[in-house]
Amino acid sequence: MDTTTQYLGLSLRHPLVASAGPLTQSVEAVRALADTGVGAIVLHSMFAERLRREAERDQELTDVGADSFPEASGYFPSVADAVEPGTAYLSLLERSAAAVDVPLIASLNAAGVGNWVSYARRLADAGASAIECNVYFVPGDVTLSGADVEARQLEIVAAVTEAVSLPVAVKLSPFLSSPGNFALRVVDAGASGLVLFNRFLQPSMDVERLAVVPGVTLSSPAEAQVPRTWIATLRNHTSASLAATSGVAEASDVAAYLLAGADVVMTTSSLVRNGAGYARTLIDGLSDWAAAKGFASVDDFRGLLAVPSGADDNALARSGYLAALEKAQQTYGSLRA
Ligand SMILES: Cc1cc2nc3c(=O)[nH]c(=O)nc-3n(C[C@H](O)[C@H](O)[C@H](O)COP(=O)(O)O)c2cc1C
Repeated sequence: MDTTTQYLGLSLRHPLVASAGPLTQSVEAVRALADTGVGAIVLHSMFAERLRREAERDQELTDVGADSFPEASGYFPSVADAVEPGTAYLSLLERSAAAVDVPLIASLNAAGVGNWVSYARRLADAGASAIECNVYFVPGDVTLSGADVEARQLEIVAAVTEAVSLPVAVKLSPFLSSPGNFALRVVDAGASGLVLFNRFLQPSMDVERLAVVPGVTLSSPAEAQVPRTWIATLRNHTSASLAATSGVAEASDVAAYLLAGADVVMTTSSLVRNGAGYARTLIDGLSDWAAAKGFASVDDFRGLLAVPSGADDNALARSGYLAALEKAQQTYGSLRA
């Protein structure tokens, strides 16, 4: 099967992409992912806050060292000598780009617009083929309106896309009043692609210890339903690239996202669960499925189940909702008390 795929203007050998996660911490790990046949690899995020904390810690060490006794000053880096924050990430990116022949997408997560722009430029210089902006932001300040949050994110997208010549994808949140409309505004602001959706890693509660516990859980296939619905909805409204992320466990999940209209399908949880080599299983499984259906290329079936252009989207969503309720009634009996 011809699996070549266009994503963010890049030509990929396969639509399966390793998404941002813990499996890209070294060049060897990046190479292991590339060897599976994935079309591209998104590195784990460079978090501006973490870099700022590193820089502040270096500064504190320098201050403490300089203030304690003069002869100690030689042990501490001067501000000028202090390692530039983000050096480790940029070095990993640079060495990985030299070691593998698949596009590497650097992932950036920042707070202030200034940080976004300066780090994005450095990622571009270090050999990224594209930049994925994770605009993860939980508005804990409940006085902040949805419009304010969206305006801030659009400002970041415009600033980053203006600052670099690389294609920029934006990893979106599904928790908006109108995710489809915001997605199109992100494209208007300059993004070449959308990654649907960011998966929120929220703390859980330990009821025995009466404590809030931070933690990361891996996804389940049911989590693919929301992004798949929005990809199917958006496919015929934009020519921007659409990447699916969340809930891929088997090759059939990859096929379903492609049928909905995704250009690429990303996976992290399945690789954390089964090892990087599992990407090969997904790739082979997709080929087997396509062969059984008689498809000669991914383009033959991409978007086959997307919402057709010209459809009354609201009516379609409503009829889908009603059909789901009817199905539930048949399966589980009357939903009325
Ligand atoms: C352990 C772990 C670490 C992750 N780290 C990042 C990260 O650094 N940046 C990012 O944008 N997403 C990160 N993600 C989110 C994934 O890229 C992905 O969007 C999400 O897990 C949903 O896809 P999945 O169902 O294939 O896991 C991480 C996910 C996991 C499970």
